[in-house]
Amino acid sequence: MQDLEGKVAFITGGGSGVALGQAKVFAEDARMKVVIADIRRDHLEEAMGYFATRGLPVHPIHLDITDREAYVRAADEAERVFGPVDLLCNTAGVSQFGPIESATYDDWDWQLEVNLKGMINGVQTFMPRMIARAAGGHIVNTASMSAFVALPSTAIYCTTKYAVRGLSESLRIELERYGIGVSLLCPGGVNTNIHESVLARPARFGRTGYYGADPEVFKRLKSVIESGFDPVDLARIVLAAVRRNEFWILPYPEFIPTLERYHKTVIAALREYESDPDYERRKKLGRHMPGAQ
Ligand SMILES: NC(=O)c1ccc[n+]([C@@H]2O[C@H](COP(=O)([O-])OP(=O)(O)OC[C@H]3O[C@@H](n4cnc5c(N)ncnc54)[C@H](O)[C@@H]3O)[C@@H](O)[C@H]2O)c1
Repeated sequence: MQDLEGKVAFITGGGSGVALGQAKVFAEDARMKVVIADIRRDHLEEAMGYFATRGLPVHPIHLDITDREAYVRAADEAERVFGPVDLLCNTAGVSQFGPIESATYDDWDWQLEVNLKGMINGVQTFMPRMIARAAGGHIVNTASMSAFVALPSTAIYCTTKYAVRGLSESLRIELERYGIGVSLLCPGGVNTNIHESVLARPARFGRTGYYGADPEVFKRLKSVIESGFDPVDLARIVLAAVRRNEFWILPYPEFIPTLERYHKTVIAALREYESDPDYERRKKLGRHMPGAQ
């Protein structure tokens, strides 16, 4: 989408961090009308303090993205206030880390519900509206470098983010025919409030094998992300990618050596079977699985 001025963006998690940076940049730099949707009212209020003093067209909606009915009401409200949504930023996400053997079902369910199913709810809510309107549009999904790299103690988060990558790559292929662009943002570190994610963990996911609201843990986690990107700088990169309709948004070249090693290992594992007789048979038939050559 080249011409963004006056168009409407709907940004989940927009009260804080990466999403708040996106809201600022899309409202201020791109002159869009922006809806910020967040489960935390305090984050929304604080963010609105920023936008109201600048007279920017930003509308807050209190939304838990895991609530499908509330999501539909939020989409209706966004349309009533600003008109049809042109840009959906599925940015809201949570993290809580620890050894996989300590995880409870509630630990799994909470991160899967927010990071994956919350994003699916966004797609299921807005995609049909974008298609029906036949005016194109764009979807930016936020994953993480955890969509490529598995690290100890990140199993649940990593599972959700790999899934977000699969969802986004699929959407990119399938929505092209409707003129709807899709981008995937994979941050490494960003200086946000994600270290305090558990503060927004609903009571229905109450049983945890991990930490609670522990200032010491928060301090440790913050020390990892605070040297990362400033959310506004990251959002400017996202804006440029939306304008150029680029899929990959990967502004973290420090991951190149790790990804080179990873892909080399995957290719080497495939090569081991190049002389397999069954591969020869499949090649002769010339009927490979779709995606293979
Ligand atoms: N900060 C990093 O270093 C980093 C790195 C990689 C990826 N990310 C990703 O960036 C995205 C944004 O995270 P952030 O770092 O800005 O964190 P953040 O905690 O600062 O912001 C996330 C926002 O999402 C909201 N939220 C949480 N659950 C919600 C729900 N159920 N419904 C609606 N809103 C909800 C929170 O209230 C919060 O305002 C996430 O998807 C995260 O996985 C962050």
